[in-house]
Formats: sequence, structure tokens, C-alpha cells
Amino acid sequence: MSAGWADVDAFIADRLIGGDPALDAALARNAAEGLPAIDVSAAQGKLLHVLARGIGAWRLLEVGTLGGYSTIWLARALPGHGVLVTLEIDPHHAEVARANLDAAGIGDKVEIRVGPAVETLSRMEAESEGPFDLVFIDADKPNNVAYLKAALALTRPGGLVIVDNVVREGRVADAASGDAAVLGTRALFDAVAAEPRLTATAIQTVGSKGWDGFLIAVVDGE
Ligand code: SAH
Ligand code: DHB
Ligand code: MG
Repeated sequence: MSAGWADVDAFIADRLIGGDPALDAALARNAAEGLPAIDVSAAQGKLLHVLARGIGAWRLLEVGTLGGYSTIWLARALPGHGVLVTLEIDPHHAEVARANLDAAGIGDKVEIRVGPAVETLSRMEAESEGPFDLVFIDADKPNNVAYLKAALALTRPGGLVIVDNVVREGRVADAASGDAAVLGTRALFDAVAAEPRLTATAIQTVGSKGWDGFLIAVVDGE
């Protein structure tokens, strides 16, 4: 990673984000509990927050909780009656996230559902648990198409579907890649392109987390 990218992320965080004891504590607890440091960056977390606030979201869905760092950014965008459902396969990750969310003071707005997200999402669809205003997909990349289809079924017209890690240092553009994560992400782009109900783009990002990107789609039909 270029040193400059991390420096600029530090500058952005200094000017626009500032110190945040709850988020710092979450990252510290994640490290102490042995979770991988693959959370979104502060600038990316705040982007999710700004987008959620911008569309007036009050029902949020996240696929891939880890220690709840992105969850805190998203949940803070909610109005008083807002809710966030976040899906996580690893019980230890979910336990650490629960502690972080409670310590951040937004635990009462967040429900963590433990299990393989494809199964949880099918149950949510079967039980008509939607619609959500925004879905953030950030879990195992080979399942990205399944997550996209579930997200589409569970999101209201005008709602947003956002997918993390769609660039991965440019590997997404390598048509010869045999990497399961790359194949899953390339399949995601094909599925989005073939979906008439979505208007989408993807934006490359650089920063403290290296070179990556978000796919951002709006559900048509409002
Ligand atoms: N959104 C988090 C980072 C998530 S990392 C943040 O930015 O703070 C990806 C998470 O997805 C990990 O915690 C991993 O355990 C979880 N995950 C992987 N496969 C999954 C699956 N099949 N179902 C649900 N969660 C899964
Ligand atoms: C990985 C997963 C992520 O969601 C991320 O943001 C960065 C890395 C990973 O599995 O390596
Ligand atoms: Mg990610």
C-alpha cells in the first residue's frame, strides 16, 4: 500500500471524523479477542453512515458483522425507532460485536443473527421481514450473488445495496483469476448488470485499507 494513502486517511479522519472512544474501543477489543483487522476504515464507515442518513434510513441490514465496527457507524445513522439486523456466521465474532455495540450505546437498536447468512436471508425472505432501506454486504465473497439476490428481495424501491471489497487491489479485473473471492465478485458484477431493477456503479477506494472499492446500487421503482 502507498504510504500516502494512509496519510491522507489520517488527515481525513483528523479533520472530518475526530477521536471516537467507542470506535477505538471496538477495534481494541477486536484485536484483544483475535479478530482479523478487516473492518472498514473510519472514512469508509462514515461514508456508510452518511449514505444511510442521506436516504433517511430507519431499517438497515448488514451481512458480515465481524466485531461490529461498520455496524456502529451504520446504527448511529438511525433515528430513535430505527433498527439494524446484522448477520454473522462466527459465534465468537458475534459475541465480541455484542460487547462492542453495547459499549457504544447502540446495542438496543441492533439484532445480531448467528448462522450462515444465506440461510438466515432465506428465512428472512420467507417471513417477509423486509423491506430494508439499505443493505451492506461484507461477508464471504463467493456468496455475493446470493446476498445480492436476497438484498434485492428485502430492499424497498429507492433503497441502497452496498457491497464491500469489490476491487481487491485490482484483482476483480483479472478475467483469468481462479480465486474464489474474485470469481464471486466478478459474478456479482454480472448479476448486477443483468438486473433491471438496479441502477449501479462501483467506486475504487484507496486508504488505510489499501486499494479496494464499493459497489453501490439503488433499487428502482420508487
Ligand atoms: N462489516 C465488518 C467486517 C466484516 S468481515 C466491518 O467492516 O466492521 C466479514 C465477516 O463475515 C466475518 O466476521 C466473517 O465471519 C463473516 N462471514 C463469513 N462467511 C459468512 C457467512 N457465510 N455467513 C455470515 N457471515 C459470514
Ligand atoms: C477481507 C474481507 C473483508 O470484508 C475486507 O474488508 C477485507 C479483507 C478478507 O477476507 O481478507
Ligand atoms: Mg469488507
